[in-house]
Amino acid sequence: MSNAYSKDLERWMPRLIAVWRASRGRGGGGGPETRLTPQEVKEVAAGVRQLSLGLTRERQLAGARYMDDPKLLGAYLLFYWPVSYAQARQVLGELPNRPRQVLDLGSGPGPVAFAALDAGGGQVTAADRSKAALTLARNLAAEAGEALATRDWDPTKKGATLPDGQFDLITMGHVVNELYGTGDAATAPRAALLETILAKVKRGGSLLVMEPALRETSRGLLHVRDAMVAKGYAVRAPCMYRGPCPALVKETDWCHAERAWPMPRVVEELARAASLHKESLKMSYLVLAPKDEAWPELTPGRLFRIVSEPLEGKGRHRYIGCGPEGRVGLAMQERHRNERNERFLKLNRGDVISVTETEPKGDGLALDERTEVRVVAPAGKGVPPPPPEEDAPSSPGTGPRPGAPS
Ligand SMILES: C[S@@+](CC[C@H](N)C(=O)[O-])C[C@H]1O[C@@H](n2cnc3c(N)ncnc32)[C@H](O)[C@@H]1O
Repeated sequence: MSNAYSKDLERWMPRLIAVWRASRGRGGGGGPETRLTPQEVKEVAAGVRQLSLGLTRERQLAGARYMDDPKLLGAYLLFYWPVSYAQARQVLGELPNRPRQVLDLGSGPGPVAFAALDAGGGQVTAADRSKAALTLARNLAAEAGEALATRDWDPTKKGATLPDGQFDLITMGHVVNELYGTGDAATAPRAALLETILAKVKRGGSLLVMEPALRETSRGLLHVRDAMVAKGYAVRAPCMYRGPCPALVKETDWCHAERAWPMPRVVEELARAASLHKESLKMSYLVLAPKDEAWPELTPGRLFRIVSEPLEGKGRHRYIGCGPEGRVGLAMQERHRNERNERFLKLNRGDVISVTETEPKGDGLALDERTEVRVVAPAGKGVPPPPPEEDAPSSPGTGPRPGAPS
């Protein structure tokens, strides 16, 4: 499949292989290598499996110093690096501005930092507590002919500081869930850290937090989101609802994005060898604005972001939508399908749609033959602001939100 960043990701694969081989004391074979040998696949897949178990299933590696183990760092580089890079390119596509000065915190070997560079970042600094990971990030920059500054950073250490200056974009890829332990007690220190970090974001800039799409890590992020919203911070994406996150109401719910991606062959081979699935990218994310910035003005209309996969029922199409009025089921009977509403049958998780003419039904909304369904922002694109000349009357899309903090 082809994405705007497919070619960029393809160019990174031989660099990752070259840097990994050099780190293991194995010289390159001359030209750029895009494949691992069968022996290498076996060796790296064992590390990938260990990382996957430790970071997703059992989670005993979360917050541990796995980046300082060469086998696990190598597995991270060849398998998770391309995943994080692609996730970051997807989410960076939703930002309102192209970032120039970027700081990537908890960078590891730099997938998010390089994604920001490739998305137009001018000066990028990668920061982590793992010296080994930062060394690989610098080696990758040298291999790519890019400039990347690196810096030691550990927010859990007393007196930890952030680099001088202000940034257009600060990113935190899959690191927040590794800070301050687990459970509800982690929310307050994480939110306090994000507040300190947001003070380093320029006006109009963003803090992007990306987390694994697991129930525990995603809900952890949603709790931090609520804490930040309660402190008065605005969410640029993906939320349009300004009240407490409705996905937290039921213990079994969480919220994540899922996107198709151009999976590199090396990742495919390693996934197969480690019995993992990476056919699509799944992540939870949050883009926050600095203090005293307003929530984004939305294009007029009754808007919902699709936050589920299609939930097919007998003769009917259904999704969960989340928008300025909250999280609601959206359903349409097959017999009501016509050219005004047929877009409803082909929606992706993350698309933002506008709908007209709905009827309340059960705990959701029923669409029918009068309903017009329009995609106002496909997944991965920002929701457009209202047209400048519009002096729009207040609509459910732009008016006060039920449950919104005053
Ligand atoms: C899962 S990796 C994410 C790497 C990269 N950002 C990405 O998105 O793929 C988590 C990173 O957080 C870093 N990390 C964990 N705890 C940390 C801490 N207390 N201080 C600084 N970095 C930390 C680890 O060293 C590791 O590089």
